[in-house]
Amino acid sequence: MTTPAPAPATAYGSLPNTSPQPLRRPVSLPRLAQMRERGEKITMLTAYDATFAAVADAAGVDCILVGDSLGMVCQGLSSTVGVTLDTMRHHTDSVARGLRRANGSAWLIADLPFGTYQESKEQALRSATVLMQAGAHMVKLEGGGWTAETVRFLVERGIPVCAHLGLTPQTVHSLGGYRVQGREDAAAEQMREHALALQDAGATMLVLEMVPERLATPLTQALPHCHTIGIGAGNGTAGQVLVLHDMLGINLGKNPKFVRNFMEGAHSVQGAIAAYVRAVKDGSFPDNTLHAW
Ligand code: KIV
Repeated sequence: MTTPAPAPATAYGSLPNTSPQPLRRPVSLPRLAQMRERGEKITMLTAYDATFAAVADAAGVDCILVGDSLGMVCQGLSSTVGVTLDTMRHHTDSVARGLRRANGSAWLIADLPFGTYQESKEQALRSATVLMQAGAHMVKLEGGGWTAETVRFLVERGIPVCAHLGLTPQTVHSLGGYRVQGREDAAAEQMREHALALQDAGATMLVLEMVPERLATPLTQALPHCHTIGIGAGNGTAGQVLVLHDMLGINLGKNPKFVRNFMEGAHSVQGAIAAYVRAVKDGSFPDNTLHAW
């Protein structure tokens, strides 16, 4: 009797962790709240495909964001405005499949793209349903207090929501460019009011992008039930997020000032991501010498 030769893992590349067991406990909203309570920083990174999602998960990232930054990173667009719901669905589906096949544990967030939630809360529910059915655990949407009614509508219907304030890339044309937000007292106070309204509506996460640390840190303290995730917002937020390609040093343009290239000194992509996770958890990233706004 001949024994059949073992089949190769996959035809082209294989995902990490082929064991039937997850490497760690799945990340959930209660686990994120526990991390927050014990002062453990939350790590988030973007991913747009199955392999990078599995590698980021194996490196210990808590949350993976299928960001609409994929418009720039994967599609070569000049902003996120042209990203469609169908493109977000396609990438969310790939990332979710990669995580499932690798027995991943990360919390998966997907961006609602421009024009798919602004019209009405019913439109937002239809769009969020597409992303949740593709495998997301939470959706992210940009905007201030005007989105609170939509946030409440989604949360009441079982869809966890991450809000996004500060530099909101989908409105880059109204903001006049990729600029720091909330520098002046009046703008800072307005952002604080928006953030409180979003927490009140049930948002459990809030990305703060390009916001001065002197605003992001007290805002974090004022939001015990909504975990702030900073990007260019200093060291006082509940967690940090970066765009994967930026932190791997493969951004074709100029990296934003607040980004560190974690590939420097790393031997592999997984090693670079693990270094990012360690640096966020031990508080050495971001470093206030990286930028000061
Ligand atoms: O689209 C994205 O990648 C994002 C992050 C920069 C937070 O929104």
